[in-house]
Amino acid sequence: MKRIGILTSGGDCPGLNATIRGVAKASYGMMDCEIVGILDGFQGLINDQTIEMKPKDFSGILTRGGTILGTHRTPFKKMRKIEEDGIDKVKNMIETYHKRNLDCIVCLGGAGTHKNANLLREEGLNVIGLPKTIDNDIYGTDITFGFHTAVDIATEVIDRIHTTADSHDRVMIIEIMGNKAGWLTLYSGVAGGADVILIPEIPYDEEVVLEALRKRHSKGKNFSIIVMAEGAKSIEEAKMSKKEYKEYREKLPFPAVSYRLADVINKTGLETRVTIPGHQQRGGSPTAYDRVIATKFGVYAAKLIRDEQFGMTVSLKCDSVVATPLSEVAGLSKPVPIDNNLIKTGRLIGLNFGDDL
Ligand code: F6P
Repeated sequence: MKRIGILTSGGDCPGLNATIRGVAKASYGMMDCEIVGILDGFQGLINDQTIEMKPKDFSGILTRGGTILGTHRTPFKKMRKIEEDGIDKVKNMIETYHKRNLDCIVCLGGAGTHKNANLLREEGLNVIGLPKTIDNDIYGTDITFGFHTAVDIATEVIDRIHTTADSHDRVMIIEIMGNKAGWLTLYSGVAGGADVILIPEIPYDEEVVLEALRKRHSKGKNFSIIVMAEGAKSIEEAKMSKKEYKEYREKLPFPAVSYRLADVINKTGLETRVTIPGHQQRGGSPTAYDRVIATKFGVYAAKLIRDEQFGMTVSLKCDSVVATPLSEVAGLSKPVPIDNNLIKTGRLIGLNFGDDL
């Protein structure tokens, strides 16, 4: 009999429940097991908040957004810190693991979750990771579940903005999530037919952006669509240290990077508006692709548990689901390479990336 703990940590995304379901259904089918739900991510492990789950708990959740287990952000840098509450988080997590007689913990999460999972591995626990995030920035996997759904949602927003941009002869900036990675912006920008795409990996030159807009307008195009990552920076901003940038942002009168750029464009006489779809990009039901990849990932995790191949995370490499050691993934990220094929493709159809290539 194996007792499998399962938790979801970090920002939620569509596909978490589909993955949980994949792990559970395949585990029940492959081995004699019990599944223990750990509530609210690593917080549940720290505070011993767990529930004994039954097969029926995993029915009807394939299409459900969010996570049936709840989630929480528990920063890696605070894991070994004893804070005011006096709680030794790592000690508590190890105690819960043993108290609940767990044979392993499956951790569904992003980059931060993978660092925490690796910490638990280093502490001698049996851990398996599963890569979720709309940001698609987890090292070692081509795709994370949640990404495709977010691309679809962001693309739908861009499509809708197109029509109103056209009616009003406006420049519209749509600010897309993704933290420090530009995957979501790049994919939704191309899918949504953006004119300018600004991603963190390519610091933008304001003059180049303005020139691209002027050129469009001189050709008789009455509107322009800029799809901009929340982490995009101008060339000047990209030169700042982390501290300098933080202080600079705090002093700016704008709530988000897109408003600062909108202000620059508005001053040239081109009427500009901003749309920030925000957490909508993380909400609702997963797309068919995400349901499939979530199921494949979940089932693969169950195989790893059956074979007692712990200390691994599940990855997609060239369309094959494989296991990658957590130690190789933890602490690394996956920015968009500037020679990425989709960037090259975009350039060939005249897309502007804010640089003068
Ligand atoms: O990591 C997913 C993500 O949605 C990022 O794209 C975004 O920067 C961040 O989470 C937002 O976090 P929160 O939900 O804590 O505001």
